[in-house]
Amino acid sequence: MKKNILVTGASSGFGLLVANELHSKGYNVIGTSRNPEKYASMLPFKMIALDLDSEQSINTLPERIFKEIPQLDILINNAGFLVSGIAEETPIELGRQQLETNFWGTIKVTNAVLPYFRKQKFGKIITVGSIVGLVSFPNAAYYAASKHALEGYFKSLRYELDEFNISVSMIEPSAFKTNIVDNSSSTLKKIEDYNTLRKKIEKFTVNLVEQAEDPAIVAEKVLKVVQVDKPKFRNIVGKGTTALINLQHFAYGILEKGVLKKLNKA
Ligand SMILES: NC(=O)c1ccc[n+]([C@@H]2O[C@H](COP(=O)([O-])OP(=O)(O)OC[C@H]3O[C@@H](n4cnc5c(N)ncnc54)[C@H](OP(=O)(O)O)[C@@H]3O)[C@@H](O)[C@H]2O)c1
Repeated sequence: MKKNILVTGASSGFGLLVANELHSKGYNVIGTSRNPEKYASMLPFKMIALDLDSEQSINTLPERIFKEIPQLDILINNAGFLVSGIAEETPIELGRQQLETNFWGTIKVTNAVLPYFRKQKFGKIITVGSIVGLVSFPNAAYYAASKHALEGYFKSLRYELDEFNISVSMIEPSAFKTNIVDNSSSTLKKIEDYNTLRKKIEKFTVNLVEQAEDPAIVAEKVLKVVQVDKPKFRNIVGKGTTALINLQHFAYGILEKGVLKKLNKA
């Protein structure tokens, strides 16, 4: 029987690629968007509505899922966005929104699906975190916080769901060319003391965006986690990610110096 997979945020970027890849491999894919009607006719898989910021939308998600399919095998938590900017310049409300969508929205969707996974005694939860959930960089403190929080939460959840035959995994990509920067939010408030740093960060960010990789390899990584019987928790993907993780664990001082050097050179 074809496996049924829900991919949140399937209208753009990683989610769109992942959903297309899984559909082409014969899986029965349902994607989500806040505006599914905008994409439904263009995509080869079903699109249903989901807004991570709406309690009502998440509470009624199972109804929409099980209207389309009799059972769900895999949840791919991919939807999210980026708040960028210097931490002190970012209003708390915007920071809160970042956590509300990326962290709480993802947790609420997982909780909406878990009773069904527990009842059927199988399921797979794959969450798109970020390398920024393991290592932090300047200019994205709230984003990093939201991704670190996901990492910690799902690491704990993995133990709790083991006896129900439900696996929990993270995908941690580095920088890839999607629409995340165009769809990001930042603040207009500027604190003069940060003017020099801001200029460096702007250059650093331009370089990062220019060097961002083709996101097709992220879809391949997700496919592997989907295919494997007992996937591991951490799945990093992208140029330099292994080195970053090793430095983070074994030589944090060198990692910090490297980031500062790159920033000052920018
Ligand atoms: N691109 C990167 O370099 C990178 C690296 C590491 C991790 N990530 C993570 O990868 C995931 C996908 O991002 P992307 O790079 O593919 O960005 P993207 O192209 O901007 O796509 C974001 C997707 O998330 C959905 N979304 C955003 N806010 C939502 C909300 N409040 N409720 C429901 N859906 C929402 C969007 O759907 P609609 O607008 O149609 O609702 C869209 O399909 C995110 O979790 C992001 O943090 C990205």
